[in-house]
Amino acid sequence: MVGTVAQYQIPEFTPEIAKATQPAWERLKGLIPEVEWAVYAPYIAEINRLKKEKNAVLLVHNYQTPEIFHGVADIAGDSLALAREAVNVDADVIVLCGVHFMAETAKILNPSKTVLIPDMAAGCSLAESITGADVRRLKAQYPGVPVVTYVNTSAEVKAESDVCCTSGNAVQVVESLGVDKVIFIPDEYLGRYVAEQTDVEIILYEGCCEVHEKFTAPELREYRKLHPGIHVIAHPECPPDVLHEADFVGSTSGMINHLDETRPKEVVMITECSMSDNVSVQFPDVSFVRPCNLCDHMKRITLPKILHSLQTLQPEVLVDPDIAARARRSVERMLEIGPR
Ligand code: 13P
Ligand code: SF4
Repeated sequence: MVGTVAQYQIPEFTPEIAKATQPAWERLKGLIPEVEWAVYAPYIAEINRLKKEKNAVLLVHNYQTPEIFHGVADIAGDSLALAREAVNVDADVIVLCGVHFMAETAKILNPSKTVLIPDMAAGCSLAESITGADVRRLKAQYPGVPVVTYVNTSAEVKAESDVCCTSGNAVQVVESLGVDKVIFIPDEYLGRYVAEQTDVEIILYEGCCEVHEKFTAPELREYRKLHPGIHVIAHPECPPDVLHEADFVGSTSGMINHLDETRPKEVVMITECSMSDNVSVQFPDVSFVRPCNLCDHMKRITLPKILHSLQTLQPEVLVDPDIAARARRSVERMLEIGPR
């Protein structure tokens, strides 16, 4: 045995582990140096073994590092897909490899299951930008106007809301309400993007994603200059002038589906770093220009921490039952609106 994670020993990289992890290595060998694989593979083998032993399922967001995305995920996707899958999961334990609001959403939808997040400190600048009291103030300011809440928020904020949305269904959710005005919280840029796609009046809030706000329109124009004909796809959390420069705007899974449909020769994905690495495995014929704005919160999740979570069934995400019941109504109302 070599190495330890907390008090737990990690098996060394044996020929048996090399064999068990061969399918993952086939996916990852273009992305990870062989010397690193000798470190990752024992974790991957042990995590995959423990998942069966503990009847656990790993829900993995598209921004997780490639060794997690391609090595241990049972289901990978965007926030909407992870919320949908959280309802269908037939396991005792859900390990959410993403950020805290995603794990909370899984717990809200599965109160009787054990929901773990490998690092409790994996937060989100959007979720931190608004509290339940802020929502109550907005509702008092605009009486009777429904509140549409991006899932990148705490359970407390969801509990004060009428309906949730993700970047994959925001326009559809806003239009489903049949009203002429909504309060849209907390992502101002996503709200502005929705406002451009609908006649419904959008009352905005000043939250933003600390990763996507860093992209600029001149930077996108530079990609076009350096790579003539490049396809530019962007996440709707980017500022409006960035989105206006893009050929396609969509959620992380929306971007993957778009690539699948269009198969451009060269693409730049204006979003978090790991997206291009993860997706490039699925599209070997597409050349990826890889800008890198990293989400530190997403990167708190690592293979050693996932293993530790499975071994200890900690840290567990818990939500106050009253808040969870009210938040569940907002999330379920979104899920009832149906697939994109
Ligand atoms: P998606 O729902 O598009 O995966 O976005 C989640 C997120 O946090 C983007 O920054
Ligand atoms: Fe939150 Fe932005 Fe990180 Fe997504 S990328 S989790 S919105 S901080």
